[in-house]
Amino acid sequence: MPYIEFKNVCKEYKMGEVIIKALDNTNFSIEKGELVVIVGPSGAGKTTALNILGGMDSITSGDVIVDNKNISKLKNKELIKYRREDIGFVFQFYNLVQNLTAIENVELATQICKDSLSPDEIMEKVGLKDRKNNFPSQLSGGEQQRVAIARAIAKNPKLLLCDEPTGALDYKTGKQILKLLQDTSRKEKMTVLIITHNAAIAPMGDKVIRFKNGKAESVEINESPTPIEEIEW
Ligand SMILES: Nc1ncnc2c1ncn2[C@@H]1O[C@H](COP(=O)(O)OP(=O)(O)OP(=O)(O)O)[C@@H](O)[C@H]1O
Ligand SMILES: [Mg+2]
Repeated sequence: MPYIEFKNVCKEYKMGEVIIKALDNTNFSIEKGELVVIVGPSGAGKTTALNILGGMDSITSGDVIVDNKNISKLKNKELIKYRREDIGFVFQFYNLVQNLTAIENVELATQICKDSLSPDEIMEKVGLKDRKNNFPSQLSGGEQQRVAIARAIAKNPKLLLCDEPTGALDYKTGKQILKLLQDTSRKEKMTVLIITHNAAIAPMGDKVIRFKNGKAESVEINESPTPIEEIEW
């Protein structure tokens, strides 16, 4: 059985009289340890799908199975446990705790989980060893995004969900972060999902899911994904 299964998932938002179908009968599956790249136009439902997988949004109908759990049917307490122990999430706009330093933001996340990785090591890997005692307001947008990525990876979650993790980063830093995500998925057997607007990086994924109009329009499997170092864009 696949690690993740999205089965006939619909997500509707009611805006007064109008119903918006963010997800319209979406189906896809993901194996454990896969690095998945999700692409598709704005409004296609990518963030909605990621938020649902992260236990942060409910569905209108269908089933979402993660690691043999039907997360669409979890009770509130079980959902909290799921988010805390199984999920690392990198938001499009970092969401750091402003009155904690960079390293404290990472430590905070690791304190609530069992098999966390060393915050200091991860800070070094994202290239922020020398900035770890700075507060978010003292860091650039790209640096804050790297703290957010460090925080998600340091939890050593089973499932790492990244919503445009490199949107705020320059070319070189972005590539460094994608390499960290590719290496982490290999080394820690972590299942990693990355939403991106940059279709050029799709070959780095073991699987590429293309969203269109609330549907996973196509799913492509790369037998031999390209190391990110070899991709230019
Ligand atoms: N809370 C909400 N209330 C109403 N409509 C919403 C809500 N969240 C998302 N939508 C709508 O659902 C659709 C899918 O949105 P979603 O954020 O998943 O798109 P996306 O593929 O992530 O787009 P982008 O690439 O721009 O981030 C859009 O039409 C959006 O306006
Ligand atoms: Mg989005």
